[in-house]
Amino acid sequence: MLEIRRAYKTFNGGTPNEVRALRGVDLTVDDGSFVIVIGTNGSGKSTLLNAVAGGFALDTGGINLDGADITAWAEHRRAAMIGRVFQNPFSGTAPSMSIAENLALAARRGRRRGLGWALGRSMREELRDRVRRLNMRLEERLDNPIGSLSGGQRQALTLLMASWLKPKLLLLDEHTAALDPKSADQVIQLSGEIVARDRLTTLMVTHSMQQAAHLGDRLVMMHRGEVIHDFRGAEKQRLRASDLLSRFEEVRRAEQLDESAADMLRRLYV
Ligand SMILES: Nc1ncnc2c1ncn2[C@@H]1O[C@H](COP(=O)(O)OP(=O)(O)OP(=O)(O)O)[C@@H](O)[C@H]1O
Ligand SMILES: [Mg+2]
Repeated sequence: MLEIRRAYKTFNGGTPNEVRALRGVDLTVDDGSFVIVIGTNGSGKSTLLNAVAGGFALDTGGINLDGADITAWAEHRRAAMIGRVFQNPFSGTAPSMSIAENLALAARRGRRRGLGWALGRSMREELRDRVRRLNMRLEERLDNPIGSLSGGQRQALTLLMASWLKPKLLLLDEHTAALDPKSADQVIQLSGEIVARDRLTTLMVTHSMQQAAHLGDRLVMMHRGEVIHDFRGAEKQRLRASDLLSRFEEVRRAEQLDESAADMLRRLYV
């Protein structure tokens, strides 16, 4: 289980560039739950995922994962429990190393040095097996450098690496946003399959309302560093892309009202 308690994070506090990126986020995610995270640009989605992965320390608040209080843990220590895939297909893999070498690194993450470092036959068989399941015919190219693959193929492999050791938590931050529509669909389908097969507890950020409506068993919407909607169960299953768009529209209208109210106050008091 993932538990985020009253998480606050302000960047550049006390300067003109101050941003209150997280403003008291409370979120508890059950084991095996697949949570979609949506929200306008700058609403705090990536900041929330980074806070969980340990990219920075929270100002206040706490995070528990799988029974451990990881609030004070360094990023590399959390990495043993957390798999991540980012938007950029160029991050997450070593381009000059082969597919097999990249996967072997992922497979032995967290193990003692020397164990299985050599690409033994059984390891190679397992690699081939898992790569075959991607349905991209990459099993024929295990010795090709990752750098020679398309963005979609790289993201599929990054996903495979991030989920190899069945992490306690999988974090996907717009991991298909840089792909062409066909590759994006392929990687999304693959994500759904891997998450379901291994029952991975997952947070997935997306700007695609189609993805948000069709994937996952829960959906949270962030706005200005807070969770403003949280749909689960039958309510989540009923959500359509158009419902989500109207939620965004509500936020926009509320913001305009806010602005005109602020304007009015300014005019009253200047
Ligand atoms: N390291 C940082 N230093 C300063 N400001 C930051 C930093 N990281 C994020 N921010 C700011 O915090 C706010 C939230 O950013 P965040 O990246 O979490 O938004 P997001 O919801 O992921 O947006 P997008 O949909 O554009 O990816 C933004 O105003 C952003 O500029
Ligand atoms: Mg982001």
